Amino acid sequence: MEEILNEIYAIGAEDLDIDLFESQYPVEKGVSYNSYVIMDEKIAVMDTIDKRRTEQWLQNLQAVLNGTAPDYLVVLHMEPDHSANIEKLSEMYPDMKLVGNARTFTILDQFFFDKKIAADRRITVKENDTLPLGHHTLQFIMAPMIHWPEVMMAYEQSEHTLFSADAFGRFGVPSLTMNEPWDIEARRYYYNIVGKYGNQVQSLLKKASALQIDTICPLHGPVLHTPLDSYFHFYDIWSQDIPEIPDGVLIATASIHGHTRDAMHQLAAILKAKGIDVKEIDLTRTDVSYAVSAAFQYGRIILAACTYDANLFPAMEAFLSHLETKNLHSRRIGLVENGSWAPQAAKLMKNRLDTMKDMQICDTVLTIHSALHHDDLDTMHKLADELTA
Ligand SMILES: Cc1cc2nc3c(=O)[nH]c(=O)nc-3n(C[C@H](O)[C@H](O)[C@H](O)COP(=O)(O)O)c2cc1C
Ligand SMILES: [Fe+2]
Ligand SMILES: [Fe+2]
Repeated sequence: MEEILNEIYAIGAEDLDIDLFESQYPVEKGVSYNSYVIMDEKIAVMDTIDKRRTEQWLQNLQAVLNGTAPDYLVVLHMEPDHSANIEKLSEMYPDMKLVGNARTFTILDQFFFDKKIAADRRITVKENDTLPLGHHTLQFIMAPMIHWPEVMMAYEQSEHTLFSADAFGRFGVPSLTMNEPWDIEARRYYYNIVGKYGNQVQSLLKKASALQIDTICPLHGPVLHTPLDSYFHFYDIWSQDIPEIPDGVLIATASIHGHTRDAMHQLAAILKAKGIDVKEIDLTRTDVSYAVSAAFQYGRIILAACTYDANLFPAMEAFLSHLETKNLHSRRIGLVENGSWAPQAAKLMKNRLDTMKDMQICDTVLTIHSALHHDDLDTMHKLADELTA
């Protein structure tokens, strides 16, 4: 653990063994569960952590406490990667009070119903309520749906620090990813985890702009220090669903035996020759979370899929389902299908896209019969032109 600011310590833990974060996201460089403690006249612990690292977290906490006891456990988010140790900590420190909002306690009672935490141990806060700790004061900011309805943030007034819950979090343990650009894994985290709730992020950013913030302490990934402009700028763009590469093309392919994929390499070359930024993703070999992140990043998308038992090849089916869940909208789309006897992937993809808002689908559809033929090249060029017009 480390004193990151005056009397504010980071006591979280890194997890490099986890196979899938939240049972779906591969995290090659792990994930951290952050937790903080403010050691003032009153002592406040800011969230607990995942049960996978309880022992280490308790050791870190007790080393900082040095025999003292926390007065408050502030619960910013009830998802178990942060709340798993609430009951345990409450039992260890019977005088410690829990600080949450009304929704926090509703969800708390669902997870921890055996030994209910007594009413007189609960402090319910609302927007802009403050909790004085000595020379530190916490001011609460409600942030519903970033990422659950009970989420709130805490602004510490003396150190100008925002405890931002899941917002501004990132995959990758800080000790291994210190020198990597922040945005790549922060983008994948954002679009897959909080991305659906851009409006709520926008209102949070409005509230944040009224505060002087020098440090952001998120619940995952590195602590962010001033200058914070680039992080706020990314969140502003991401939460408005503005594609960062509006003229670029994502080619997302679901091929079985490789012919559709080879054809898409040719299409990529045609687009690149026009000077266009192209990203190819093989949906059968790339986790869908990377493809979701790219779909939000690029303004134009080619969807290329095989017909599979009169349906869509499952990797494409899954991709479209994720995009629908995350509310992707307003993209220019080109469709490519393959079928050896009755191709219908394009029609099936179009049906899915029609349920999404403002998807502009190119009239030109490239239908490949098993393998790309010379005759198909005209259509491929036409599709490239229409997509990038
Ligand atoms: C298990 C399986 C089921 C398929 N089902 C269909 C189908 O229902 N209709 C069709 O036209 N082609 C079907 N195909 C053919 C593929 O859509 C595609 O044309 C072929 O796999 C070549 O493309 P690829 O090399 O990109 O996989 C199927 C292929 C496989 C392996
Ligand atoms: Fe969460
Ligand atoms: Fe989280």
